[in-house]
Amino acid sequence: MPLNVSQHDDGPCRSVADLRKAIVGLDTPVPLLDGSERPYVFLDNAASTPSFRPVLRAIEDFLPWYSGVHRGTGFKSLLATEVFDAAHDAAGEFVGADLETNAVIFTKNTTECVNKLAARYGFGKEDVVLTTLLEHHSNDLPWRKHARVVHVGMTHDGHIDLEALHAALLRGNGRVRLVAVSGASNITGLCAPIHQIARWAHGAGAKIFVDAAQLAPHHAIDMLPDDHPEHIDFLAFSAHKMYAPFGTGVLIGPRTFFGQGDPDAVGGGVVDIVTLEKAVWNRPPQKEEAGSPNVIGGIALGAAIKVLRSVGMDAIAAHELDLLSYAYQRMATVGKVAFYGPTDHLEEKVGVMAFNVDGLHHSLVAAILGTEGGLGVRDGCFCAHPYVKELLGVSPEEDAVLTAEVIAGDKSHMPGMVRASFGCYNTHDDIDALVDMVERIAKGQYKGNYTQNRATGAFTAEGFAPDFQRYCRIAGPRVPSRPHSEAS
Ligand code: ALA
Repeated sequence: MPLNVSQHDDGPCRSVADLRKAIVGLDTPVPLLDGSERPYVFLDNAASTPSFRPVLRAIEDFLPWYSGVHRGTGFKSLLATEVFDAAHDAAGEFVGADLETNAVIFTKNTTECVNKLAARYGFGKEDVVLTTLLEHHSNDLPWRKHARVVHVGMTHDGHIDLEALHAALLRGNGRVRLVAVSGASNITGLCAPIHQIARWAHGAGAKIFVDAAQLAPHHAIDMLPDDHPEHIDFLAFSAHKMYAPFGTGVLIGPRTFFGQGDPDAVGGGVVDIVTLEKAVWNRPPQKEEAGSPNVIGGIALGAAIKVLRSVGMDAIAAHELDLLSYAYQRMATVGKVAFYGPTDHLEEKVGVMAFNVDGLHHSLVAAILGTEGGLGVRDGCFCAHPYVKELLGVSPEEDAVLTAEVIAGDKSHMPGMVRASFGCYNTHDDIDALVDMVERIAKGQYKGNYTQNRATGAFTAEGFAPDFQRYCRIAGPRVPSRPHSEAS
């Protein structure tokens, strides 16, 4: 049955208890291998979250007034510009940015933010970006394109080796221009001490960039005043991990920084005047938002921030800490389960739990959870291959063999983990559903016959061919020859 998104309660969100009913598609029935259905249990929030209902409402309210921004003179354009600009301000205020001195730039996601910053930084050949082994590829590969990247390692329990980071800054003799760290890991959930690192970076004449994609939906962030020694110079996050999956990323940094130099992408909107010989750039953020921007994405983000702020980030963090501690407590009773990263001091983490079941391929476990349990999780290396391989103890020799296999088109031995990640609306019941299924899997009590596709590494159950169109009108038949593409 196609889902009617208007069928749920539409009241205001004032506390964590109100958030569950504010989720679009909560408890959507999904098909299982045995032909039955069960309400979907969404535990893949670190990848992307469902939408808040007030976000959908805001879009509906705004759509009659939709118009291009910053260009038109009609009433709708003026109104749209006002609302879109206000969304920029809301995004900056959400993380404590000084809006007088900092530009809030909308992109399409955090990855685009990092690519933009890396391209705009103006690195010289000898300039170093100091980052860590814990990073998602998005906070690693863009820097590699433009600078010399030095990776600080991790301690035995999965934390950033802070001593090594501090020592590298002191040793850098001013060559480290930027320290780039994730606010929270998408694998272990560990939060970095970003203000401490900022103090060290500034002391060494460097600046700090924080990839807050995994932090912003879960914990309050304060960039602090610009002249504070622990100020965060640059910060990025994504709306699609904050219950507003409509294609907006946010990059914040000094107006003076973005005021200098050429924008990385050029075209309409970025200029004050153009002659056949030259272009005079607009001020940031417009200078950095080439082309017609994603107005709806910005409105959606503004609406999501309103919900998060009205509930309060501290209340959300406390709820998610309770979920994480319940999850570890319950999963520990299963036995035959290995966890990655620390399982204590959970207040240092966001709600992410990576694990493996003894003797079973991570993709098989994830497939059974989805196909027989109706649970949405992610498995693999989570776009953070070096960190995952380090946590799993993959040796350089094994890594070389794996690399050769993948180049040859075989991902069947790719190491990895299963990841359950919690959002502000998840409950103990969701975790019970996960643990019950993991317990069944660990006892070998799953029903399907699963085969692995060597090219993707994914497992599928024999006879499981759900009719997507039956569930969602727009899910038309696929071109049969086109293979699924998957990130690992
Ligand atoms: N960074 C996202 C994840 O961890 C895509 O799944």
